[in-house]
Amino acid sequence: MMEAQQHIRSFVRNRGRLTNRQQYGIDSLFSIYGLSIDEKLDHSLAFENNNPVIMEIGFGMGHALMHQAKKYPEKNFIGVEVYEPGVGSLLADLEEQCIENVRVFWGDAYKVLNECVTENSINIVQVFFPDPWPKNRHKKRRLLRPEVINMVYRALKSGGELQFATDWKDYAEQALMLMEKQSGFENKFGKGKYSERNPDRPLTKFEKRGHSLGHEVFDLRFEVFK
Ligand SMILES: C[S@@+](CC[C@H](N)C(=O)[O-])C[C@H]1O[C@@H](n2cnc3c(N)ncnc32)[C@H](O)[C@@H]1O
Repeated sequence: MMEAQQHIRSFVRNRGRLTNRQQYGIDSLFSIYGLSIDEKLDHSLAFENNNPVIMEIGFGMGHALMHQAKKYPEKNFIGVEVYEPGVGSLLADLEEQCIENVRVFWGDAYKVLNECVTENSINIVQVFFPDPWPKNRHKKRRLLRPEVINMVYRALKSGGELQFATDWKDYAEQALMLMEKQSGFENKFGKGKYSERNPDRPLTKFEKRGHSLGHEVFDLRFEVFK
């Protein structure tokens, strides 16, 4: 198992100011919806069922998770995020809207994938609008890199899927290239092709910002064969 401390972080630890609502989420609701990053995840304990599991890495404020959890009550959702205001906000949303099929890891996805997630246990892994790290000297920080793709592969069930979206063209090209090099994954939309817009992805702040910068948005969907 890789040491979580040794890898290059794909995020800057930015605690941000918490609103009262977010603070309430962290203080009072993490014990209900939160998952420990120091333990192996047991899905049937976490959800009390064996429904399919979708994991979103870097959920931001949790809008895509909330949207999907309501649309698919028969599926389980796991969010992974380091940003405390985002975690607090999602936790408050879950309580206010009585959502029961979402659980949350508050920590680095690298550690979660490497240490908490069981092999062949996840149906879909989603990475929507990861931090783009556009400067050349920062590109090594990008979340989607070969070692993370390997961890995602290990986590996914056969027939499972990695879904990715970005408005940064060179990140999309890099992701496409890396994914197509990775054995065990197959582009659902044909070699070298981006997918149509993922219907499960609501319009979030980051996509809107991409539009306002004149960026095109690129979706990727790769299926796992084991
Ligand atoms: C640009 S935001 C996009 C948020 C959301 N997916 C959306 O589309 O609105 C990227 C998010 O990924 C989170 N993030 C980056 N690296 C992460 C990691 N290694 N583990 C967990 N979260 C991470 C950041 O904290 C940030 O909230």
